[in-house]
This record gives sequence, structure tokens and C-alpha cells, in this order.
Amino acid sequence: MSRHGYTLVTGATKGIGRALVDRLVSKGEQVVGISRSPDASFPGVLVTADLSDCVQRREALAQTVAKYPIARLVNNVGFNQMQALGEITPEMYQKVMDTNLAALVDVTQSVVPLMRERRYGRIVNIASRSLLGRKGGSVYSAAKAAMVGFTRSWALELARDGVTVNCVAPGPITTEMFERNNPPGSESRRLLTDAVPMGRMGKPEEVADLIEYVLSDGAAFITGQTIFVCGGSSISQQHF
Ligand SMILES: NC(=O)c1ccc[n+]([C@@H]2O[C@H](COP(=O)([O-])OP(=O)(O)OC[C@H]3O[C@@H](n4cnc5c(N)ncnc54)[C@H](OP(=O)(O)O)[C@@H]3O)[C@@H](O)[C@H]2O)c1
Repeated sequence: MSRHGYTLVTGATKGIGRALVDRLVSKGEQVVGISRSPDASFPGVLVTADLSDCVQRREALAQTVAKYPIARLVNNVGFNQMQALGEITPEMYQKVMDTNLAALVDVTQSVVPLMRERRYGRIVNIASRSLLGRKGGSVYSAAKAAMVGFTRSWALELARDGVTVNCVAPGPITTEMFERNNPPGSESRRLLTDAVPMGRMGKPEEVADLIEYVLSDGAAFITGQTIFVCGGSSISQQHF
């Protein structure tokens, strides 16, 4: 078990978040997750709140940090809706910004005081390969690119406090949502897969592998970095 305390994972019950939680719990770590819906199979403490909603978010965070000493944070919750330039609605814009960025700022600010006081902390922000540009997904791309700015700036602000801040940027990963939106045999799945130099999608566990390392004591000298887990799609000329 970690000598440090709890790991808080936002968006914890499915996909990348769940793969990470399962991994950490299997190693004896204590985890607090946040999601909108309850999940009886969740292996740690689960707090339910819609993190895109300012009031719910702040209430849930106040209760969480009062109860659980958070030593490590994974800002994993995110939202994307494809809307091409000319079709971007204010509602979608706001939801993408609230879920990806307002939550990032509020969750991080709620856990940082204890990390500073204890002179130990790990913060990992989950961005996306899309931060390099996403045709038809500019709002999501911009939000994920902004995460890099937060990551680098916070890394500098916390560098003398024993707290590292890094960004993990996945390429296309086969989560339940991806499987639902791009079923085997679909044209969208073929296009996405073809655009990855390795010719395959990533698995949530492959992203969890990197997050687990960045959260570890061994990664103490790594801060302010953005690391892609993308089968080479961040260095490819092909766009998707
Ligand atoms: N999958 C990919 O291909 C991919 C690629 C690049 C980057 N990413 C990024 O990786 C992160 C995780 O994505 P994923 O694909 O693993 O997600 P996912 O499989 O759709 O799971 C999302 C998780 O977040 C929770 N959640 C969603 N909206 C929430 C909200 N407003 N408030 C609280 N919890 C919420 C969900 O539970 P509830 O539904 O119960 O709330 C669920 O536990 C995101 O930041 C995403 O942008 C994903």
C-alpha cells in the first residue's frame, strides 16, 4: 500500500480511469473515484457528482478532501463532441470547457494545499493526441491543448514542493464508448485504425501502464511533461 495516502481519479468507473483504478487497487493502493453514476462493482471509494456542474463539483470536492487525504490526482474526466467550424454551438463549447478544464482547475486546487503541506504529490492530467489538431473537433483539441499549458505552469509553481505535474496524451483507445461509436467493421473504425502508424487501437491498460509509472516514486524527477501513448499517431502525417 502507498505510504502517501489516497489516489483521486476523476471519471473513474469506465475506460482509462477504470483500468487505472483496477491496476492501483490490485497493488494495494487506496483509491477515491468520481463519476456521475453509482457503480456497485467499483473497487474503491466512489463519489457521485457531475464534474461539469460547478455546484455539484465543488460540493463533492469539499466532502472528498475533508474525508480522504489525497496524495495523488489523476484528472481523467473529459468530454468531446465533434462539431466542425461553423457548427460549433455555445452549449457544446461550454460543456467541453467545463468538463475538461473547469473540472481540472477546481479538482487540482482542492487537493494542492495538502500536497504542498506534506511536500509530496503527483498530478497527472489526461489530455489527448487531439491536442495537436483534430479536424471537426477543434473545441476538444483546444481544451486538451490548454491542459498542456496548465500542466507546464503548475509544474513550475509546484517544482519546489515535492509535487510533480505531468500530462498523458492517449491516441485512440478502445473504451466502451469507442466500441459503441465505432463498432467492429464500421467505416469510422477502419479510418481511425488506419491513421495509427501501428495499425491498431490502444488498450486502456496501456494508458494505465504509463499513468501508474508517472504516479510512482520512481518518476520523482519528471515534471511538466506531456507524454503520448498513441501508437505513433502524434508523429504521423496522417490526420483523423
Ligand atoms: N478513449 C479514447 O480514445 C481517448 C483518447 C484520447 C483521450 N482520451 C481522454 O481520456 C479520458 C478518459 O476517456 P475514456 O474514453 O476512458 O472515457 P469513458 O470510457 O467514456 O469513461 C468516462 C468516465 O468518466 C465518467 N464521467 C463522464 N462524464 C463525467 C462527468 N461530467 N462527471 C463525472 N464523471 C464523468 C464516466 O462515468 P459516468 O458516465 O457514470 O459519469 C466514466 O467513469 C478523457 O479525458 C478523454 O478525453 C480518451
